[in-house]
Amino acid sequence: MKVLITNIRQLLQVRDNPVEKVSGSDMKSLPVLENAFLLIEGDRIADYGKMEDLPDMETDKVIDATGKVVLPAWCDSHTHIVYAGNREQEFVDRINGLTYEEIANRGGGILNSAKKLQDTPEEDLYEQSAKRLEEVIALGTGAVEIKSGYGLTPDAELKMLRVVKKLKENYGIPVKATFLGAHAIPEAYKSDRKGYTDLIINTMIPAVAQEGLAEYVDVFCEKGYFTTEETENILEAGKAFGLIPKIHVNQFHAIGGVQTGVKYNALSVDHLEVMRDEDIEALKGSDTMPVALPSCSYFLSIPYTPARQMIDAGLPLALATDYNPGSTPSGNMNFVVATACIKMKMTPEEAINAATINGAYAMGLAATHGSISKDKKANLIITKKVPGYAYLPYAFGSNHIEHVMINGKVCHTN
Ligand code: NIG
Ligand code: FE
Repeated sequence: MKVLITNIRQLLQVRDNPVEKVSGSDMKSLPVLENAFLLIEGDRIADYGKMEDLPDMETDKVIDATGKVVLPAWCDSHTHIVYAGNREQEFVDRINGLTYEEIANRGGGILNSAKKLQDTPEEDLYEQSAKRLEEVIALGTGAVEIKSGYGLTPDAELKMLRVVKKLKENYGIPVKATFLGAHAIPEAYKSDRKGYTDLIINTMIPAVAQEGLAEYVDVFCEKGYFTTEETENILEAGKAFGLIPKIHVNQFHAIGGVQTGVKYNALSVDHLEVMRDEDIEALKGSDTMPVALPSCSYFLSIPYTPARQMIDAGLPLALATDYNPGSTPSGNMNFVVATACIKMKMTPEEAINAATINGAYAMGLAATHGSISKDKKANLIITKKVPGYAYLPYAFGSNHIEHVMINGKVCHTN
């Protein structure tokens, strides 16, 4: 099957020589072809160029993209979309003055979701999660990472990861699985933290690895959750089973999690709402991708990741949604990109780089996703008619997507 997209107003993120990530001042340049064509063969990008150079060819289908922008589908490297039920009561409680921390201390928060998930049969959990995955694909997400962490018992954590595995099998986009047993200390281990980390290390990680259910290991390294020492022990145990670290750090407090991530060569360190100079320093020269989650900052009214300071210091940055029932009940990467521009002062070029190629890097997919390059997967967004790509984050509340293509096929049309 050959599909040709013609008359594209702007074809974004065109990389003849693919890069694995972009950092610092390079993030300001987004390679764009104006008045372009894009040829797809099967599930891959076969060719692209200017319309005036379009060769004569036979195709099975032509899509006219006059006035439209085409770009790689979003790469959302941090989500928790496998969860049961919702937590809108906590949302209302926060409006009425409670903090996220106070709600968690009363047994709400992550523990509230864990209770619901433990009581939900796997089939039901799958149905709820599949609906969310379909929702985010329709919003232009073409690759996604999904974490466990709302189980907090060996059985419930495995149940979550089996649901992730089923999503991976049943949907066409790449789905990367992360084991996040260290998301919170469960009620039953409140006075025996060591008992819970031992359970993670000695029971959960070996079981997850044995079933081949995850490629990454995550820890919520934060005051009231897991210390840097506990984080190190868990990452060490994960690494022994081939799980690559990818961790939650610096959401509310800077307690050294960034340094722990760099020390263990984490693929990414995520959140970073509270960053000290030494945390930025620690990331310099490392292979660890910093990931910002602006919808979480928006929803919880906490600081935004200091993107300007980080990029100006030469670091790369990725953007992701953090879609979860507590801190970010939204999986809309279009909103993430707009919020990064509006609240974090990232330019549209920086934000699009962060949400495509750098997001792909943060889930080990940079060789196959995240840019318009020959042989990469044809996971694409075709917008409606827009004046140009800066209009996408500018007109932030509207859905500008006309088609989402996954593996070379249109799978959603607005
Ligand atoms: O990434 N910070 C830790 N975990 C999630 C939120 C957990 C929840 O409130 O359910 C996050 O924000
Ligand atoms: Fe998260």
